[in-house]
Amino acid sequence: MKRVHNFSAGPAALPLEVLEIAQKELLDYQGEGTSIMEQSHRGKSYTRVDTEAKERLNRILGLGNKFKIMFLQGGASTQFMQVPYNFLKPEETADYINTGIWSKKAIKEAKLFGNVHVAYTGEDQNFTRVPADEELNLSGESRYVHFTSNNTIYGTQFSSEPDSKGTPLICDASSDFLSRKIDIDKYGLIYAGAQKNLGPSGVTVVLIRKDFLETADKKDIPTILNYHTHADRIFNTPPTFAVYMVNLVLKWVEEKGGIPYFEKINSQKADLLYKTIDDDGFYRGIAEVNSRSKMNVTFRLPSEALEQQFLKEAAEHDLVALKGHRTIGGIRASIYNACTLESLEILVNFMNKFRADNG
Ligand SMILES: Cc1ncc(COP(=O)(O)O)c(C=O)c1O
Repeated sequence: MKRVHNFSAGPAALPLEVLEIAQKELLDYQGEGTSIMEQSHRGKSYTRVDTEAKERLNRILGLGNKFKIMFLQGGASTQFMQVPYNFLKPEETADYINTGIWSKKAIKEAKLFGNVHVAYTGEDQNFTRVPADEELNLSGESRYVHFTSNNTIYGTQFSSEPDSKGTPLICDASSDFLSRKIDIDKYGLIYAGAQKNLGPSGVTVVLIRKDFLETADKKDIPTILNYHTHADRIFNTPPTFAVYMVNLVLKWVEEKGGIPYFEKINSQKADLLYKTIDDDGFYRGIAEVNSRSKMNVTFRLPSEALEQQFLKEAAEHDLVALKGHRTIGGIRASIYNACTLESLEILVNFMNKFRADNG
């Protein structure tokens, strides 16, 4: 068996330990003679998986039972619509911080439901930075303030929550979920597609503070899109195998030491990579230094030809999925929780050698 060093932005690398458990249990889940994905979502085994995963998330994030946890479908892209559908009436306003393509998509959907006030946009600077609190122009009458905590494409990240002046934050945390400590009391709702830091694609985790959920519209919303439908029960067939995988990833997160462990190792990994980029002028970071992401590290080489050569030679060294997003080009190394320090060190050694050979 050969496993490469996978720097995919998503769906992304999963912990080897988790894949091995899934492989072991695939044909015979805990002596039941079937896999978990061949069983009823109302059965005892799957109910236990669902409950365990929610209990683990509650512990890992210190939610203190103040949040409803839902495993939904349709990806983070569905949340762009479902959030305003539930929380924004036509006469109401929501503030959105525009830090890239994903924020823009969220803004587009919200406009279908109510007034959108763009409190900041980084578009004129090609989204190479996130705003400081002083740059936010909040409407002051907002239902919620929406932001994208980590911008997967540009490689920018808020280092802490934007100051929403007490208005509940709604966060698209798809690409930095469980990667570091967050101030949970500031949030009304957090959503994340699983396929970067949490598990395979197919499930989206949505956390909604109970008192914030109480302020959501209860009627005039199709049943499946109404958050209340999912708050206390499994309404319809969930992506059972994906949730099973999420539960295994959460177990792994807890066994490793939870958020403090990942916050520390993610900083170590990012520091190592940015130090290599900043060493001399050969590599050039795309994001502004204060806005740099610890999850998606984006950089350029002196020419596109060298970037092509870099990708080719990297692949020959089993370093894969390093091509930048098509809208900005260059190189992107996605170094989520499951990316090991060892993979990172091998990447950095390759980068140093490539610079020595071509600089
Ligand atoms: C920050 C962010 N938000 C939203 C999305 C879209 O997620 P999905 O494909 O699950 O709808 C992505 C996908 O990469 C993302 O990185």
